Amino acid sequence: MAKIAAKCFKRVIFSICFSRELPVNNSDSIDMDRMSISSRNAFKTKDVSIKYMCADRIQSDRYGCLFEPHQIPSRHLTRTEKIAMSNKYTATPSGSKVSIQTLHTKKTRGEPITFLTAYDFPTAVALDRSGIDGILVGDSLGMVVLGYENTLPVTMQDMLHHCRAVSRGASRAHLVGDMPFMSYQASTADALRNAGSLLQKGGMDAVKLEGGRERVQVIKAIIAAGIPVMGHLGLTPQSVHRLSGWKVQGKSPEAARAIIEDALILEDAGCYALVVESIPVEVAELVSKRLSIPVIGIGAGIKCDGQILVTHDLLGLFDRFTPGFVKKYADLFSEMERAFGQYIEDVKARRFPAAEHANMMDPQAFRALMQEICLPDASADRDEDSPTQYH
Ligand code: KIV
Repeated sequence: MAKIAAKCFKRVIFSICFSRELPVNNSDSIDMDRMSISSRNAFKTKDVSIKYMCADRIQSDRYGCLFEPHQIPSRHLTRTEKIAMSNKYTATPSGSKVSIQTLHTKKTRGEPITFLTAYDFPTAVALDRSGIDGILVGDSLGMVVLGYENTLPVTMQDMLHHCRAVSRGASRAHLVGDMPFMSYQASTADALRNAGSLLQKGGMDAVKLEGGRERVQVIKAIIAAGIPVMGHLGLTPQSVHRLSGWKVQGKSPEAARAIIEDALILEDAGCYALVVESIPVEVAELVSKRLSIPVIGIGAGIKCDGQILVTHDLLGLFDRFTPGFVKKYADLFSEMERAFGQYIEDVKARRFPAAEHANMMDPQAFRALMQEICLPDASADRDEDSPTQYH
């Protein structure tokens, strides 16, 4: 009898502990039906199993996680997750993939979304580690990497080449591949094939294309194939000639109204996010407020749901010109010039390579070699510490 009473008491205490720690309102409640049988059993029986179950759930966020990190008792979080949680802005715990749902949640919570461009493996690795939400493999690569005057010459082959490099370097950030000029304008069939390639061969999570109401049919077809589409309005670089140059768009009431209408049309068509480029702050704010999808601005002011810049502009790597809306966080072009100049001087002055940059043979092996090739034993002349002085 005493044993049974003790058991019941333990159970009551156990359930009180859980009901205190687990989410209480409906939207936060744990959906036992969606759990695997073993997880359900683990949940019911062992505290320690919950730890692993929860950790597993965090990791599996990209497949539709049951828990957000803030719904999980902090003692079940890893140190990294706790640090991320203590940040004012939430946090994608390191290792968990940023999904479209993550971006939408950020908009709902009013948390700024961060995007930058990348075109190569090392930049993708650095961005991914820095905690960026999204990486765009933009067709801006035509200008900042390939040296073209504008983005028009960029091809699908160029895009796929760079998308593959970026996707090898970034496993956490949300990856968007830009559809280059004439990859989606000529026909819906072309658009579908090319959008599919950016995911299938390029490793992207979504595609971006430029234009408003005139693109609705193509956007709907791509989305119907299961490919998420990000829109792009305002200054659309692929139309640079029609727009008569790189000019701020939407300055007149008519032009501003057209942008707002186009934004609503793109949202209706199913776009999951929208880039607005070089438009007045007021117009960008109106668009961000009217749309329920995240609006990412470039040269569009502080009121957007998120920001994007061309990484080469931010790093000061592109010296031809820097748009006025860019904040330069580094001057890597000057730094590159300095490093290259120093290298050239070092080589000319025979300061490079120094001993620590060279490989030496074992002295005995070297002597044997000299005997074998019938040369006098030159090892006596050899200065072990300074291979550069050995001739
Ligand atoms: O190509 C690109 O980098 C872009 C950004 C400027 C948004 O489209």
